[in-house]
Amino acid sequence: MAPFRGITHKSWRNAFARHIGGFDEMFAPFISGAGVTKIHPDKLVDVVPLNDNLIPTVPQIIGIDADEIILLGTTLADLGFEELNWNLGCPFARIANKKRGCGLLPYPEILNEILDKVFGSVKINLSIKTRLGYHVPDEILSVIPILNQYPVHRVILHPRTGKQGYRGKANPEGYGRALQLINHPLIYNGDIYNLSQFRKLQMLFPGQKSWMLGRGALINPFLPKEIKGFVLTDEEKRKPMISFHFELWHRAWETQKHESRTLGAMKAIWHYMAGTFANGREVFRRIKRAKNRETYLDAVDFAMEQEFAGEADLEKYFFQLTKVG
Ligand SMILES: Cc1cc2nc3c(=O)[nH]c(=O)nc-3n(C[C@H](O)[C@H](O)[C@H](O)COP(=O)(O)O)c2cc1C
Repeated sequence: MAPFRGITHKSWRNAFARHIGGFDEMFAPFISGAGVTKIHPDKLVDVVPLNDNLIPTVPQIIGIDADEIILLGTTLADLGFEELNWNLGCPFARIANKKRGCGLLPYPEILNEILDKVFGSVKINLSIKTRLGYHVPDEILSVIPILNQYPVHRVILHPRTGKQGYRGKANPEGYGRALQLINHPLIYNGDIYNLSQFRKLQMLFPGQKSWMLGRGALINPFLPKEIKGFVLTDEEKRKPMISFHFELWHRAWETQKHESRTLGAMKAIWHYMAGTFANGREVFRRIKRAKNRETYLDAVDFAMEQEFAGEADLEKYFFQLTKVG
C-alpha cells in the first residue's frame, strides 16, 4: 500500500488490516523535519512501536539532509524496523522548490553526494520512492546510473512527472524504460484502479513481482484481495466495509477531538472511498455536505446501502479524480 499523508496514518492502516486485509506491507506517510542531532519523538508516533503495526510497515523520510536520513535510519533500526524509504517523489511546489521530493531529480550530482554520505554509515535498508522526473520524464535517465552505484534496497517508481502531480495518466512506457536500466528491484506504482487495469499492466511487465497500490485501493479497499484472487460479492464486502468505517470514525474522534476536525478527516477519506459504491459521486456529495455528526452518519447509512462499484465505475471515479489532481 502506498503512503498517503493525511489519510493512511496508523489508525487507517490498522483498521484496514483488521477489517479488510490483502496487503503484504504498507508504506507510512513521510516524516519531515525528523531532526539532525536528535530525533523528535513526536515525529515517530505514526510508526512506533514496531508491534503496533498490524501489517509490516515501512517508514518514510522526506528531506535532503544526509545526517537526518542516517540518524532516522539508525533510530528506526534500533527500534526493530528493517527498512527506511526515502521520498524522492513528492510533487508539491513548496517541497520540490527546496530540492526535496521529486525536486531533487534534476540534480543528480547532489543526489550522488547525499547517497555517498548516507551509504557510508546508514544501518538500515534504504529504499527510494520516486517519479520519472520533476519537469520531464527523461530526468530519471540521469538518476538511474547514480542509483545503480549504491546498494539501494529497492526502488518504487511512479511513472508521472512532478509537474503532472497526480493528474493525467501514468506513463507505463516510461516505467518500462527505467526497468531496463535499473539494477535494483523495481516496484510499479501508478493508476492501478481496478482488476482489469492490473492485469493489463501485468501483461506489459510479465516479470514484475511487486506492485504498489495507491488511490485505487483508497477507492476500492478490496482491490488487493481481488488481485490475490478473492471474488467477493456485495454482501461479503458490506460487513467489512461497515466495520472498517466504524473503526476509522472512532479513531478520528479520538485523534481530532472536535466535531468539525473529525468530519474533515473523514471527508478526506471519503473523497476516495465514496468511489467504492456504484454511485460514488452522489455518495461523496452527501458526505461532503454533512455539517455535524447526525447528518454525517445519515450520509454514511445511505452509502452503506448502495451497490458496490463495478470495474467501469471504478475506472470512471479514478479518472474523475485525476482531472483535478
Ligand atoms: C493526498 C496524497 C498524499 C500522498 N502522500 C504521500 C506520502 O506521504 N509519501 C509518498 O511517497 N507518496 C505520497 N503520495 C503519493 C502516493 O503514495 C502514490 O504514489 C500516488 O497516489 C500514485 O499512485 P496511484 O496512481 O496508484 O494513486 C500521496 C498522494 C496523495 C494524492
